[in-house]
Amino acid sequence: MTTTSPASEIAFDVLVSDHPRPAADRAEILAAPKFGSVFTDHMVTLRWSADRGWHDGRLEPYGPFTLDPGTSVFHYAQEIFEGLKAYRQHGGAIVAFRPQANAARFGSSARRMAMPQLPGDAFVRAIELLVSQDRAWVPDGEGHSLYLRPFMIATQTGLGINQPSQQYLFALIASPAAAYFSGGARPVSVWISPEYTRAAPGGTGEAKCGGNYGGAFAGQQQAIANGCDQVVWLDAVERRWIEEMGGMNLFFVSGSGSSASIMTPALTGTMLPGITRDSLLTLAPGLGIKAEEGRISVDEWRAGCASGEISEVFACGTAAVITPVGKVKSPAGEWLVGDGSPGPVTLRLREELLGLQYGDRPDPHGWIHKIC
Ligand code: PLP
Ligand code: COI
Repeated sequence: MTTTSPASEIAFDVLVSDHPRPAADRAEILAAPKFGSVFTDHMVTLRWSADRGWHDGRLEPYGPFTLDPGTSVFHYAQEIFEGLKAYRQHGGAIVAFRPQANAARFGSSARRMAMPQLPGDAFVRAIELLVSQDRAWVPDGEGHSLYLRPFMIATQTGLGINQPSQQYLFALIASPAAAYFSGGARPVSVWISPEYTRAAPGGTGEAKCGGNYGGAFAGQQQAIANGCDQVVWLDAVERRWIEEMGGMNLFFVSGSGSSASIMTPALTGTMLPGITRDSLLTLAPGLGIKAEEGRISVDEWRAGCASGEISEVFACGTAAVITPVGKVKSPAGEWLVGDGSPGPVTLRLREELLGLQYGDRPDPHGWIHKIC
């Protein structure tokens, strides 16, 4: 069977696996999914070459790639990825959250990394195909979902760097997931990295490319060594302004009740423009919570927590959903946010976002994309 994506005319052949995981094994995995550790029975692949454009689209059994050791991606890390989730809603539908926004960000990442543009409709079509085929893999437990990982790698063989690869592989894989942080809304502790930065002006910080994450592990290791869950990055120029976390954007809450407001660092080109971040900036005003972009330094964070002006801080992202930040540590000292426990604004926004994604709330912005 071949299925065509109408606008871009990119076709996908469908090859169904003859060795899917037995239902009993799958049920055991779905009962307690671990983030990104087991993958479904199928994947989507699609190739691009300078002479043929996008071709050889396929939904096929999940399996390894065979690549020449001289393949460009192994040496120069020309790789981008996305992360989004499919939810089994309480009404029974399986949906994705804002997949077109991920398609658009994949396009900007591709541009920054000198890679070809995948038409947005083909990106979404790939998701629809894989999720429909592997729908039995979408878990129904509280807060569970199917994490989708689209990515693209440079596949030309050769070590020259005069021009980018002339061949690419796009692929989509999926993995049943519980919340990224165990314990749901359990507050995390963060380490503000004094030594490393994640991204500099003019660099690749706003692209979702693998290198940004490879370069972040040393900072994350230091966070763990200092007894913290996650690293927080500062700007690379002044080393004072808070940017984001390893895989999440940050929000700072001031006030409470009808005077509550949230602020997230403005996008300067060195941060990932999070889709959860954007969704919260849009949703909060409807809940009577003022929302704005701004900037905050480490000293202001510390002083704001000491004076009580900052009442809550939380991180947000696809994998992390909304996770409270309870404790902050840096070489200059450590402090609690509020009393270290999850605050009401954080929990309210979390409930609203999850309610939308799981179909318990109306969807006025048209963010829910029904798949099957
Ligand atoms: N910042 C970084 C570095 C990330 O990797 C992510 C996760 O994708 C985010 C922020 C949050 O983005 P989103 O809400 O689109 O998942
Ligand atoms: C996501 O939330 O999709 C992310 O990309 C975080 C991930 C790198 C664990």
